[in-house]
Amino acid sequence: MTDTPKVIAIDGPAGSGKSTVARAVAARTGLPYLDTGAMYRSVAFAALRAGVDPDDAELVGNLACGMELEMPADGTVVVDGTDATIEIRGPEVTRAVSIVAANPTVRTEMRRRQRAWAAEHGGGVMEGRDIGTVVFPDAVLKVYLDAQPEVRAARRSKEVSDLSYETVASDLARRDALDQGRDDSPLREADDAFVIDTSDLTVEQIVDAILEQLP
Ligand code: DC
Repeated sequence: MTDTPKVIAIDGPAGSGKSTVARAVAARTGLPYLDTGAMYRSVAFAALRAGVDPDDAELVGNLACGMELEMPADGTVVVDGTDATIEIRGPEVTRAVSIVAANPTVRTEMRRRQRAWAAEHGGGVMEGRDIGTVVFPDAVLKVYLDAQPEVRAARRSKEVSDLSYETVASDLARRDALDQGRDDSPLREADDAFVIDTSDLTVEQIVDAILEQLP
């Protein structure tokens, strides 16, 4: 454990290439990787499993604070002892997650856990929506990935082959609006973020550009 965790913050909207790029940056730098979106998805999963209405801010906040969450390096996600790796990516959780992520109690608790994770690991590549703006404003490097909306929707619809492009595109637009419009830590570029439009770039080109920025 070091005093100042070396954090590379990678933020951006859904379909911007964040997860793929963040994993690749982690592999190239040897730093551990944390998908903070999976943490918010885990809260939504816990609420749905408990039969709690995602709009019930108090109950969902309590669930988030009491939730036992394990995210080992192999990518599995275990919520209160149940393997939720597959279900947190499913349509029910995806529909509920933006509401849950706008809950201030949930955000405070997830931020606390993210900072604890970075302290424990001496830093890492952290992917999310508010890592460079709020969670680690002193990150050694802040990256904001974006892409044209139709490119992002096309990427997402490849991942969820059972949904039509139109359904994926409208869901993405709805989530963008919720993530950017919420009061608590809305999605936005940090003033000093390195911004990349990934629409026409390969993963390798993006990762190379990011590594060139490392101090
Ligand atoms: O990246 P993702 O689609 O798995 O994120 C799931 C949701 O969690 C998304 O609606 C935005 C939210 N989120 C957030 O508000 N803050 C983060 N640091 C990460 C994700």
